[in-house]
Amino acid sequence: MSLLPLHILGSPVLRRRSVEIGAPDDEVRRLVEDMFETMDASKGIGLAANQVGVARRVAVVDADGDRFVMIDPVILESEGRAIAEEGCLSIPDIYGDVARPERVVLEATDLEGNRYRRDATGLKARAIQHEIDHLDGILFLDHLSLIKRQMLLARWRREHKDDTGYTKEVQAESARTD
Ligand code: NI
Repeated sequence: MSLLPLHILGSPVLRRRSVEIGAPDDEVRRLVEDMFETMDASKGIGLAANQVGVARRVAVVDADGDRFVMIDPVILESEGRAIAEEGCLSIPDIYGDVARPERVVLEATDLEGNRYRRDATGLKARAIQHEIDHLDGILFLDHLSLIKRQMLLARWRREHKDDTGYTKEVQAESARTD
């Protein structure tokens, strides 16, 4: 397994629609292992493949004690509305309140190639929707009001004006000092 560099805001792959996978092969299974490791080291609750530079429709989630892979995920049903603060590993240190359906029914493929369904509420439902957004090139910032989004983007540009690229190395958990 290996830690993968994270693509951050500005990287074109975050704004593209990722392509369907179909039946997962060994390459996809290796990618998923690396994505779990990278998500854990980053203390995230979800990670989509385009966040590590791979424009294919797969994401991992670890929320409310449930850890799973979503390949070619679709939302079959959604209901209710909830507002909660979101952040994103691709937009470090930026947070905003996002309104989303409170409950969703997910359908996706697992690593064995079987379609499964999952009924999710709360944080898990939010993580599922946030990750599927990624696969469509959508970021949580896009759900904010224009004024709020412009304010956060101005701050982001100030704080990142000296960046030389659109990727960020992830440190192994044992090597972290914060
Ligand atoms: Ni994200």
